[in-house]
Amino acid sequence: MQTQEERPARGQWGSSLGFVLAAAGSAIGLGNIWRFPYVAGENGGAAFVIIYLACIALICLPYLFAELLVGRSAHKNPVGAIKAIAPNTPWWIVGALGVLTGVFILSYYGVIAGWVFGYVFKGFVAHDLPFTEFIADPVVVVPLFALFMLFTVFVVLGGVEKGIERAAKILMPILLLLMFVVIVRGLTLPGAGAGLEFYLKPDFSKVDGPVVLAALGQAFFSLSLGMGAMITYGSYLPKTSNLRIAGGSVALFDTGIALLAGLMIFPAVFAAGEDPAGGPALVFMTLPKVFDAMPAGQVVGLLFFLLLSVAALTSTVSLLEVVVSYTVDEKKWSRRKSVWTVAVACFLIGLPSALSQGAVPALGGEGFSILGKSDFLSVMDFLWGNISLALGALLLSIFVGWIWGRRGAAAELKLGSGVSERSISFWWIFVRYICPVVIFIVLLNIFGVFGDFVGG
Ligand code: TRP
Repeated sequence: MQTQEERPARGQWGSSLGFVLAAAGSAIGLGNIWRFPYVAGENGGAAFVIIYLACIALICLPYLFAELLVGRSAHKNPVGAIKAIAPNTPWWIVGALGVLTGVFILSYYGVIAGWVFGYVFKGFVAHDLPFTEFIADPVVVVPLFALFMLFTVFVVLGGVEKGIERAAKILMPILLLLMFVVIVRGLTLPGAGAGLEFYLKPDFSKVDGPVVLAALGQAFFSLSLGMGAMITYGSYLPKTSNLRIAGGSVALFDTGIALLAGLMIFPAVFAAGEDPAGGPALVFMTLPKVFDAMPAGQVVGLLFFLLLSVAALTSTVSLLEVVVSYTVDEKKWSRRKSVWTVAVACFLIGLPSALSQGAVPALGGEGFSILGKSDFLSVMDFLWGNISLALGALLLSIFVGWIWGRRGAAAELKLGSGVSERSISFWWIFVRYICPVVIFIVLLNIFGVFGDFVGG
């Protein structure tokens, strides 16, 4: 059997641009277009957006570089990379937590991606079927979920460069273009102004502990941080790549798309007289109304949901890839065996989420309340897509800041990007002190230490 070091065929990105587009493809997904608007809507709008932006700039960006550096330093999956930096310590558990988180996020993310894919056809096949009834029907939702997992499997089987990179390169720019079309239509609807105000005029009286946690969690989720996805993608980077520019561009693209998504949704929400705090259904209820108000709206809607499916696909691909890189590197499974095993496991784990929207009453709806959430899928999203990411990021920033240490991390950062000692010192303060302290405080807050209670 080959050892890790002898194995020559580990994938690598074809170019820096390829990496940026693939990493942006991982980051940009349902998190930006489905999750960001509804979480912002539930948490008061503009004030949330400002806190979200602060989280990106002060916590996520410095932390993103830390993840990329850990991955590139050893060219390994999250567990292997941490083991290579700190052999014979229990820190690899942080990587393992990330891999586990990937499995669970993929399990419910695939369900929602299935809804999105269903919406490609729904405008034609069942235009007037309400969203809530659509997602309650197991005969529709489960096959869509399975289909989406299959798409993911096929891309990941294609390997790093051929599969993931190529898909991202072609389709992301088209999505952006279509978003602009939808924004212009939304903004010109009567009543759109109130939405702009909600989205852009902050009211800080609405901000409390859970709002800050939601913003931080959303920032991590959106940038695919906190569970090793960027460690894995960084591990396919050559040492000559300029991490500063690559990482910075990914954050910029991702944040830009989220902000545009808000601009796309909120004017339309208010124009349609809907509730901005309408929860996960928000995008699905609102956008079709915008399409209906357009010439050739059905076709625009079809295209939009198709491209959104692709954006979701580049994200599910990255989630699956993290787990697969782990089983391939550490467990020595073949890529094929890894991909199929993990995908089937995620599908099975995702079934309760798929059935929680009305199909099985015990999993959601009237009377269901766990951690303040009203269905199983939302509980999973809160536990894995929020808490676990924050916890993972807390532990990994402690690992980089205090265990790997400045010497190792700075040496890796210098490779390929001519950063000055001064900017390294600046970055280091964030990684070593500010990230862990802020995340820790936010996490304590939800466990009720400052008097708030989980889920509010
Ligand atoms: N960031 C993606 C989105 O916004 C989702 C995602 C992909 C993700 N990979 C991840 C989230 C890793 C957390 C961790 O849709």
